[in-house]
Amino acid sequence: MAPNNEGQAEGSTTLFKSIKQQLHLDNEQLKQVMGTMQSEMVEGLCRSDSTSSLGMLPSYVSSVPCGDERGCYLALDLGGTNFRVLLIKILDETNDSKKCRVEMANQIFSLPESIIQGDSEGFFGYIAECIAMFCEEHGLMDSYLPVGFTFSFPLEQRGLNQGVLLTWTKGFDVSGVKGQDVVQLLTAAINKRGDMNCEVVAIVNDTVGTMMSCALTEPHCKIGLIVGTGCNACYMEKLSNVHMVDGEHGDMCINMELGGFGDNGVLDEIRTEFDKAVDSDSLNPDCHLFEKMISGMYLGELVRLILCKLTKEGAIFNGEGSKKLFTPGMFKTAYVSEIEYKSVDDKLHGNILIRNILQELGLTPDDADCEAVHNVCHLVSKRAAHLCAAGVAAVALKVKENHDTESMKVTVGVDGTVYRKHPTFSKLMSQKVEELCDGTGVSIDFVLSHDGSGKGAALVAAAMSEKVC
Ligand code: GLC
Repeated sequence: MAPNNEGQAEGSTTLFKSIKQQLHLDNEQLKQVMGTMQSEMVEGLCRSDSTSSLGMLPSYVSSVPCGDERGCYLALDLGGTNFRVLLIKILDETNDSKKCRVEMANQIFSLPESIIQGDSEGFFGYIAECIAMFCEEHGLMDSYLPVGFTFSFPLEQRGLNQGVLLTWTKGFDVSGVKGQDVVQLLTAAINKRGDMNCEVVAIVNDTVGTMMSCALTEPHCKIGLIVGTGCNACYMEKLSNVHMVDGEHGDMCINMELGGFGDNGVLDEIRTEFDKAVDSDSLNPDCHLFEKMISGMYLGELVRLILCKLTKEGAIFNGEGSKKLFTPGMFKTAYVSEIEYKSVDDKLHGNILIRNILQELGLTPDDADCEAVHNVCHLVSKRAAHLCAAGVAAVALKVKENHDTESMKVTVGVDGTVYRKHPTFSKLMSQKVEELCDGTGVSIDFVLSHDGSGKGAALVAAAMSEKVC
C-alpha cells in the first residue's frame, strides 16, 4: 500500500476501520442472532405457512442408527461440486457381530455447468448415466440394490422416499424440477434406460446423512452440520413439536435449511454492502442469505468485493486493480484458506505466498498490501465462523430445552470443505460456541463425520429395506 499523500493514507485507514467494524460481531450481537433464530425455529415448526425464514423441514428420519443395520446399498451424493456414486456394504465387525463395519467403493463424476443449469431431462439422464457407469464398472447391472439418495437441497418430504424440490441453491438451476418429486424424476430416468435394477428407498439431506453416520459411534450426536459449498444444520426434534406431521411420540430429524435464515429480513441489520452485492449477483437473489455470509461458495467472492472497494479507493495496490480482480468468482475460497494458513505462523514466508496468489490475479502487491489482504481474509472468515457458532449454539439450546434438563452434552456431527480445509474456521467456531453457551448448561462437542453423505444415506436406506447382501 503506497498512498500518494497523507490525506489518502488517512482515508485508507478510515475505510479499513469501517470495513472492520461492519464485519465484526460482538457477543451481544451474536446472542441476538441466536435469540432470533430460536424464535424462527419454533415459528417454522408450527405452521407450513409461517413467516419464518427457516424451512424446518421434516425428514421422516425418526431415530439415529441402532447399530444392527446390515446390507449392500448404493448411495448417491448430489449437491456439491461433484456427483458421487458409492457402493456401501454394512457388515458385522470381525469377531463382534453386535458392531458393524462399513466398506465403501466410490466414483466421482463432474457436474458441468451445462448440466446443473440445464433442463430436468438432461440432468436426471446424466445422473442415471453416471450410476450405470458405476454399476457396469462394479459388475452390479443385474443386482437389485436399494438406493439411499443424499440430495442436498430443500425438499418438502411426505415420506422417506418422496421429496418435492422447494428451490435450488448453491449455483444449481435446473429448469423443470422445482415443485416436482425428485425421487420420481430420478426413477423415471433410471427406468427409461432399462438397464439397471435399483430402487430409491430413501432421500436425505446431507446434514441428515452426516448426523446419522456420526451417531453410529457417538451416542450424544443429535445435530448434523455442513459447512461446505453450502451451510445447513439438522437436529432431532420431539415429534410433538412438529405440527406438520401427525404423531405425538418419539422424535423426528428436522432439516432446518439454516442457510435461508434471514431471507425474511431478520438479519438486515448486520448484512453489509458486500453481502448485498454477493446476493444480488447470485443465481438466487434474496434466497439463502445466511449461507451467503458463511459458506465456501461465497467467502472468496466476499473477500474479492472488499478488495475491489479498497483498490478503487486507492487503499491497496496503489489504487491499481487487475482484470481478474474485477471479475466475479476469480478470488476462490481456496485462496482465503491458503492465505489464512500461510500467514498463521510465518509472516515473512506467508507474505511471499500471499504475493504469489495476488500475482496470479495480475496484481503487484507490496508487503503492506499482503498484510491488508490477509486482514480482509481473516475478518471475513472470523465473521463466518462466529455466525455459524451462533447457529449451532441456538440449535443446541433448543435440543437441551426439549430434554428438560439442567445440563446436557450435545455432539455435533460435522462435515464440509470449509470446516475441513479452512485452517482457522473450526477453531474459531468451537471457541465462540463455548463462549455463547457459557452458563447455559450445554456443552458442545464437534465430531468430524467421515463420509456422512454416503454412509448416512446407506444407513437410512438400511432401516427401510430388507437385508440384501
Ligand atoms: C444448501 C442446501 C441445503 C444443504 C446445504 C449444504 O444450503 O439448501 O439443503 O444441506 O446447502 O450442502
